[in-house]
Amino acid sequence: MNHHSRKSREVTSPAHHSNPVSDELEFSGKRAFVTGGTRGIGAAVVERLSRAGAQVAFGARSAPGDRPSELFVQADIGTRAGVEAISRHVARHMGGVDILVHNVGADGGEHVPLLGQADAVWQLVMDINVLGPARLDRALVPGMVERGSGAVVHVSSLSRSAPNPNRVPYGSAKAALTHYSKGLANEVAPHGVRVNSVTPGFTESDWGRSFVAAVADSSGSTYEEARQSVMARIGIPLGRPSRPDEVAELVAFLVSDRASAIVGAEHVIDGGSKPTV
Ligand SMILES: NC(=O)c1ccc[n+]([C@@H]2O[C@H](COP(=O)([O-])OP(=O)(O)OC[C@H]3O[C@@H](n4cnc5c(N)ncnc54)[C@H](OP(=O)(O)O)[C@@H]3O)[C@@H](O)[C@H]2O)c1
Repeated sequence: MNHHSRKSREVTSPAHHSNPVSDELEFSGKRAFVTGGTRGIGAAVVERLSRAGAQVAFGARSAPGDRPSELFVQADIGTRAGVEAISRHVARHMGGVDILVHNVGADGGEHVPLLGQADAVWQLVMDINVLGPARLDRALVPGMVERGSGAVVHVSSLSRSAPNPNRVPYGSAKAALTHYSKGLANEVAPHGVRVNSVTPGFTESDWGRSFVAAVADSSGSTYEEARQSVMARIGIPLGRPSRPDEVAELVAFLVSDRASAIVGAEHVIDGGSKPTV
């Protein structure tokens, strides 16, 4: 049992779903892998699945200083070597996975007009947002297909459907990820493996907070003023960003048997930001 599940079993919370027909927790006996599980949405998914009894391994580029776990693997999802390290780690510690959550995303960092955009940025966003998940699926989903069951979630972004002037490579890569997710769903659903995508809008994760902090820095405003201006620009009917644990709750639902007929569907979680149906 890992650090998270040990800790989590002592916690009682309204978000804790137990199996109504036995004393088992909902994900007891399930093995999961979460990419980017040390911060933000990924950390919330690790926590949520662990709390419900899953054995959860997770990866990131830097080790989590505050939450040491033998199930952590240090690997860059954007490289072949990183994906191989994850796949070896899963084979050694768990033998395979029943649940796979592709949470890592990267926006490329360098925001310049498209006609001046460098190949390196395009390559980076494709490597991390698309090729990483595709390679990791190629490594871990065949085991699910063999066993005739499994659930996969790809975390996309609302940017996939609305080009943000400064983040078109990122949005393009996420559009590719959503498309890929649907295609994989069609391919493996006949073998009992369900694949879905989750599309967050502005979420106050570590990334979301550092984005607001950067806006505050560049405009000389406070964090709260910058937060309000970011929200006003996006337009969030709910009146606030989503929280990582709210996105994790959706992911947990989708990988659970409660979602047993949900396949190849995109699930938007954005407080109503998406302006179209
Ligand atoms: N926050 C938002 O507003 C928002 C909106 C729409 C979509 N999303 C999507 O939601 C997902 C999670 O975002 P978040 O906001 O929770 O991010 P976050 O707070 O920055 O956390 C990212 C996590 O991924 C890890 N990571 C980053 N790059 C990696 C790499 N190349 N290889 C392995 N691990 C890596 C990070 O650890 P290390 O840095 O140590 O590697 C960290 O654990 C992403 O796919 C993002 O595109 C977020």
